[in-house]
Amino acid sequence: METIVKKINRENLKKEDFSEAVAILRSGGLVAFPTETVYGLGGNALDASAAAKIYAAKGRPSDNPLIVHVAYKDSLFELAKEIPDEAWDLAKYFWPGPLTMILKKKDVVPDGTTGGLPTVAVRMPSDAVARMLIAQSGLFIAAPSANASGRPSTTRAEHVYKDLAGRIEMILDGGSATIGLESTILDLSGKKPVILRPGYLSREDLLSVLPNLEYDPAVIARTTQKDIVARAPGMKYRHYAPKGNLTVYEGGRVEVAAAINRAAADKIREGHTCAVLAAEETAAEYVCPIVKSIGARTQEEIIAARLFDVLRSFDDEGVEFIFSESFSDGHLGTAIMNRLLKAAGYQVIHVPDGDGK
Ligand code: TXA
Ligand code: MG
Repeated sequence: METIVKKINRENLKKEDFSEAVAILRSGGLVAFPTETVYGLGGNALDASAAAKIYAAKGRPSDNPLIVHVAYKDSLFELAKEIPDEAWDLAKYFWPGPLTMILKKKDVVPDGTTGGLPTVAVRMPSDAVARMLIAQSGLFIAAPSANASGRPSTTRAEHVYKDLAGRIEMILDGGSATIGLESTILDLSGKKPVILRPGYLSREDLLSVLPNLEYDPAVIARTTQKDIVARAPGMKYRHYAPKGNLTVYEGGRVEVAAAINRAAADKIREGHTCAVLAAEETAAEYVCPIVKSIGARTQEEIIAARLFDVLRSFDDEGVEFIFSESFSDGHLGTAIMNRLLKAAGYQVIHVPDGDGK
């Protein structure tokens, strides 16, 4: 199958720009499209065979459910039942935007879309191209991140093309995704609301509507050193992975730089290609031939927006070993570290501080 790439001019969105994509979606085909978080691989959410095509194109296990994207808040009525008041409050404050809510599903949503679960994940994206595509199609659009399963999510049409060309009908190229990390996932289907995936909207942001909101224990366990060590190397949790072997170093800045330089020197001596992923403030401290400065620590939004692009760029350069600094937790940092640690398969080295701590 030849994958058509269609450029979309955001300055001047026209209905005609979407007509081919809409026809593909309506006939059960797949279209990748930009959202404000990452690119999504879209298909008709109420058509089990379109969902099956999504799993096949990504090489994704079919028990991993898809997020259903909507153009209007009211669509919740059609997809979900027993919707708690909090869901409407959340929609009021945070939709359109990077928030996915999990609710009990109505029968109209096929098991093929929800991986056999009795719940459905719903999101109303804010990206104008995504919204226009969904609205024009008149459908609900199931869309996982538009990457090959296990690989870093895609934040540009070029990434999507690399992973999925020949496997999907069309890619709408709307430039770079502005946020760069996937949506915050909130499970509202149980007794207590929990965050299943940290994202651009932090727990702190959502407390205004859900004062008792907690992270799912698995999210926190995987971002604290104690549990990471217990779970390492945790290959079965590996997602977002570059082809090279990625290790995250935690600890004092000076000590981390020294440890990474030592580890990289060893690998270079053995004839391997190495690279370092560092914050702007410390990038100059590394002796590796390839050092990617991801942005200033004070500007987490830039780090988030660039993370998947930088992880993918190591593959383009054939890097075999990647050494990464870590970033601080809290707010957006929680989401950044969640993705980075998963990309590393929880391979973390804790470097003691200079004073022996
Ligand atoms: O920002 C995003 O959420 C992007 C864009 C395209 O909207 N989509 C995205 O989809 O990240 P995906 O499939 O890569 O990640 C969705 C996650 C998966 O980990 C899946 O297991 C979880 O959401 N999920 C979906 N439906 C669920 C459900 N009913 N219960 C629990 N988890 C669910
Ligand atoms: Mg994904």
